[in-house]
Amino acid sequence: MNLPDIIIAIDGYSSTGKSTVAKLIAKEYSFLYLDSGAMYRGVTLHALENGMISADGSIDEERLKASLDALDIDFRATEDGNKTFNGDRCIEKEIRTLEVSSHVSPVSAIPFVREYVDSRLHSFGERKRVVMDGRDIGTTVFPEAEVKIFMTASTEVRARRRYDEMVAKGETPTMEEVVRNLEERDYIDSHREVSPLTRAADAFVMDNSDMTLHEELVWFQGLVMGRFGILE
Ligand code: DC
Repeated sequence: MNLPDIIIAIDGYSSTGKSTVAKLIAKEYSFLYLDSGAMYRGVTLHALENGMISADGSIDEERLKASLDALDIDFRATEDGNKTFNGDRCIEKEIRTLEVSSHVSPVSAIPFVREYVDSRLHSFGERKRVVMDGRDIGTTVFPEAEVKIFMTASTEVRARRRYDEMVAKGETPTMEEVVRNLEERDYIDSHREVSPLTRAADAFVMDNSDMTLHEELVWFQGLVMGRFGILE
């Protein structure tokens, strides 16, 4: 099946498997996959490493704002797939720690941080044939995206996925910590003033609590075949 030159926006709660299905779609149809959360994580890592977030969680917004111009968060193809970089430094591993996860929602709620990330994401979208995942892709970043998916799954399933992912990377979180972090992020992401996580009116909802990855792909194929009148 061939897909037209479109933008596919996949939004939803944390750890619903957005990136897994987005990467599969990108591979299947030779689209570029872009992980918008990685950009917010990159900004958060930068803030943490430069002492802009204090122990009580407060953020030095003035310093963060002044330092954004020098920040160069980007995606680059490596032998090991697409990775997140800050300038020449690969930060893929560092941005996935629980520490970054614990601070990323407040950082991503800051309006000037969203402007910084949005402008970078837009430059990628201009070329079309892009599948991008995040929280506000179908509502704010690319409201004109031709295909919008809103993903959700039960908290138990999401926490288990996130826990397994972290343990596989050598981290040692407790299940309680993982659940707390997910719930906190869901709350902040859906209640912030700028671009809160919300389903676009024209997004199709996928609850993948009990779906295999293959079933998710078949679901997606059914959706686009109907949407573009593709017969196959
Ligand atoms: O997808 P993720 O869990 O890696 O995203 C990390 C955080 O970034 C998430 O808690 C909220 C924020 N985010 C956002 O506000 N808007 C996006 N489009 C993507 C992520």
